[in-house]
This record gives sequence, structure tokens and C-alpha cells, in this order.
Amino acid sequence: AKKAVLGPLVGAVDQGTSSTRFLVFNSKTAELLSHHQVEIKQEFPREGWVEQDPKEILQSVYECIEKTCEKLGQLNIDISNIKAIGVSNQRETTVVWDKLTGEPLYNAVVWLDLRTQSTVENLSKRIPGNNNFVKSKTGLPLSTYFSAVKLRWLLDNVRTVQKAVEENRALFGTIDSWLIWSLTGGINGGVHCTDVTNASRTMLFNIHSLEWDKELCEFFGIPKEILPNVRSSSEIYGLMKISHSLKAGALEGVPISGCLGDQSAALVGQMCFQDGQAKNTYGTGCFLLCNTGRKCVFSEHGLLTTVAYKLGRDKPVYYALEGSVAIAGAVIRWLRDNLGIIKSSEEIEKLAKEVGTSYGCYFVPAFSGLYAPYWEPSARGIICGLTQFTNKCHIAFAALEAVCFQTREILDAMNRDCGIPLSHLQVDGGMTSNKILMQLQADILYIPVVKPSMPETTALGAAMAAGAAEGVGVWSLEPEDLSAVTMERFEPQINAEESEIRYSTWKKAVMKSIGWVT
Ligand code: G3P
Repeated sequence: AKKAVLGPLVGAVDQGTSSTRFLVFNSKTAELLSHHQVEIKQEFPREGWVEQDPKEILQSVYECIEKTCEKLGQLNIDISNIKAIGVSNQRETTVVWDKLTGEPLYNAVVWLDLRTQSTVENLSKRIPGNNNFVKSKTGLPLSTYFSAVKLRWLLDNVRTVQKAVEENRALFGTIDSWLIWSLTGGINGGVHCTDVTNASRTMLFNIHSLEWDKELCEFFGIPKEILPNVRSSSEIYGLMKISHSLKAGALEGVPISGCLGDQSAALVGQMCFQDGQAKNTYGTGCFLLCNTGRKCVFSEHGLLTTVAYKLGRDKPVYYALEGSVAIAGAVIRWLRDNLGIIKSSEEIEKLAKEVGTSYGCYFVPAFSGLYAPYWEPSARGIICGLTQFTNKCHIAFAALEAVCFQTREILDAMNRDCGIPLSHLQVDGGMTSNKILMQLQADILYIPVVKPSMPETTALGAAMAAGAAEGVGVWSLEPEDLSAVTMERFEPQINAEESEIRYSTWKKAVMKSIGWVT
């Protein structure tokens, strides 16, 4: 059959906490042509610890690239049309590997991991100057969430890591760095870099000067030599060089030219380029980012200040305020894997629909403490308000409501910090295909919830950055060139008073979850 003729194509790796995807877009229409997804294992070796295998992550990327290329072949689309590749990734997750062997020196310590709680407590006792030392430079509170303390833990506790650092063989990176280094050749000349958005999640990066911060590196005791080079989010970092597999090898020589932490990528993919535009992504966690333009805005209400994007070496940096919720989709996975009340994540919608209410049951999934706006590592998950009438459907409903209530908390904080309340919420991510969740979200926020018909906005953002890079130039970021995106809207259907009553009961439940561990 004749091969279909298309404009230039752009591929994107979307490496999330729960799964990896590779997607290919038409750069002229932003149409998604083909994709493949693979679920990633999470290991919980001890209470509070969360690890992943960096090699499994890398393998999943190869597998997704291969399968997507196969599917393109079946559509008669020539993969030589792929002109660039972007990478978006779960942020903060920390990998240290050996640059001579290419082997990871320990499992990846995942962003949700709590093992560094005592490291954080000890460090907070010796913060130099005022308590604002870390926050004023990085936009982040000193927390187990960010990479610096995970890296500190690895340096303190893993002999192979210590030895590799001593022998100048160790490289540190978040998942983007690990993937880009591996995909550009690994031990045969792999490029050790990260972008400003991922760097801004390490707690070692000065978000004003856009450089690794000497004082922070000293404070956390991190040798600067193991850190990746920081680049913009849109430039050619290196060329694909993978010899191990034939089909993925078909992308040999294609530039990797976009890199953004997944939440920044979604902001770009949702085209929130203007000051005050915001999006909320429902993945493993849930992250509401509001573009604050070229200004670094510091929150008074528990939000983070983070780098939104810098789309080119000579382009300006944009910042965002971020409300981070640790557990969103992860609570559904927990109901599936730990309680077994559903067999697949999609089943949650059916269960919740059967009852249409939690019947007074509230579920605070504070499995990793509470993030924004509380930043309470002492919190743990609770399910309360149970009666003999409560069944698994009510618990399923309460789990969905929990995701919505947590979003309400960060939206309230955002509105207070920004002064102008959001008139609607732009959403994306895997969970947004759940219509009950979307309706509940509109009811609980009491504003419309708006979702693009193409939900893969994270990958789209990475593809846009890659396609627009200097030297690639197949994607224009000018607003008039952006294809019209069709949206689905969910309007609030309950009255404001009912919404407020439910929300205040949720807050009562949150208070019970705090201080559970001391
Ligand atoms: O900060 C963690 C975040 O990047 C994880 O994203 O999509 O895996 O929930 P996700």
C-alpha cells in the first residue's frame, strides 16, 4: 500500500510515575497519530519508601517507541517523517548511575518517597540565616518531595554511590537526564543534561540566576560535578543513538530537542502562555499550575514557585505558582492493588455511579503525608464516617471526591495568592476520562471544568517544545498557528451551599489525618 503523505512529525516520550508513553503528533495540525503505553512497577521496600527500577523505565521507553513505530507502519506512515523528539517526565525522582558502565547505582528514589523525613528534620535545624534560605532561592519548602534530600540520602547510605562519587564515575539526574543520557548514546557519549523546569524541582537550583546554587549545594553537601548541565526546555540536546533494538533504532539520528517536567509540559500543551492562565493535571498526583509570566511570585498560602518553561536558549524564562497534591490517581491504584475492590482503574467509575454518593464517608489519602497547602509530613491516610451501610461503592465515590476536594484546596490557595479567582478550570491527564470525577469536580469547585478532547496535553507540550527548537523549526508556537482545540465542559450542578457543606466536612477529615505520626 502507498505510504500516507504527511507534514513533519514530532514524537514525545511521556514518562510518568505510573506509566510510560510514546506519542507521535503531526506538527502542522497537532493531531495525535499514534501512541503506545506501558505501566511501570513501583516498589515499596519499606513503609514510606517508593522506588522504581531505572532500567525498567528505560526499557519501557524503548518498548513504547517500538510499538508506536509499528503502529505508524500499519497506518502506512513513514517514520522517517519524525523530525524531533521531546521528553516529559515525572519530576524530582532521583537516579544516580555509573557513567562508565551505564548501570544505575541504586533504584530510582521516587518523588513520593518519605525515607528522608529525618534528613529533612536535621537539615531544617541548621538552615543558615533565616528560614527562607531554601525557599527564597528555589521557590520550594524544605521537604522530602524534592531531589536534593533524596540524593543526600543516597550519598549517606549507599556504598556503591559513595564509591562512584569518590572515583568520579557518578552522574545524578532526574528521569529526564537519565533518559536523555541513555537515548543519546549512554556510555558512548551520552549527553548529561536537564532543563530548567526539572532543575527547578531539585532544591539545588536557583530559580532567579537559573544556575545550580553554590550555597545550596554546600548546604545539602552535594558535589557539583555529578549534576547535569542545565539547558532551556527547547533546544537540541543531542541525537538519538540507540543500537540495541532495530525498530527504535529507526529513529537513530533524530534530534532530542524538547525537555520539560510533566507539569510544565502540560501547561505548554494546554497553551497556558498568558499570565493568569492555569491548568490542573490528574495523574498519579494532581498538580495545578498557574502561569505568572516573567515574575517569580511567592505564595502566602502553601503553593510552590517553580519554573514554568524557557522555550529556547535565548528566550525568556516563565514562572508558575504550583499547588501539588501527592495522591490522586494513586488512590485508585491503591484500591485496585492493595484492597482489590476493583480489577482495573476504569471500574472505579462504575462503582461510584452505582451509588452516586459517598453516604457521609470521607477518604483522606495522605499516604505520603499532605502536600499543598498543608506540607504536613505527619499526616497519614484515613477513611472516616463509616457506618454498617457503607460499602465499597461508597468508598470508591469517596476516593474520587478526595481528588476533587484536594483540588479545591489548592485552587482556593491559588485564588488567594493571585487575587483574581479562576473563572473556570482547564484540566487534563488520565483521570479526566472519568465523567463522574469531572462532574464532581465542577460541583465541588463551583466553577466550570473544561477539558480538551485530546487529553494527552503533557506529551503535546513536549512535542511542541521539541518541534519549535532552533535547528528543527517544524512547529510554530505563535498563537494564530495553534489548531482550534475542541473542549468538553462540565458545569456545576449542585448549589453552592451544598458544595460548601461537603467541603467543610472534608476539612474536618483532613484535620483528623494530620499528626498521625510523630
Ligand atoms: O512532581 C511529580 C509529578 O511530576 C508526577 O507526575 O503525572 O506522574 O503524577 P505524575
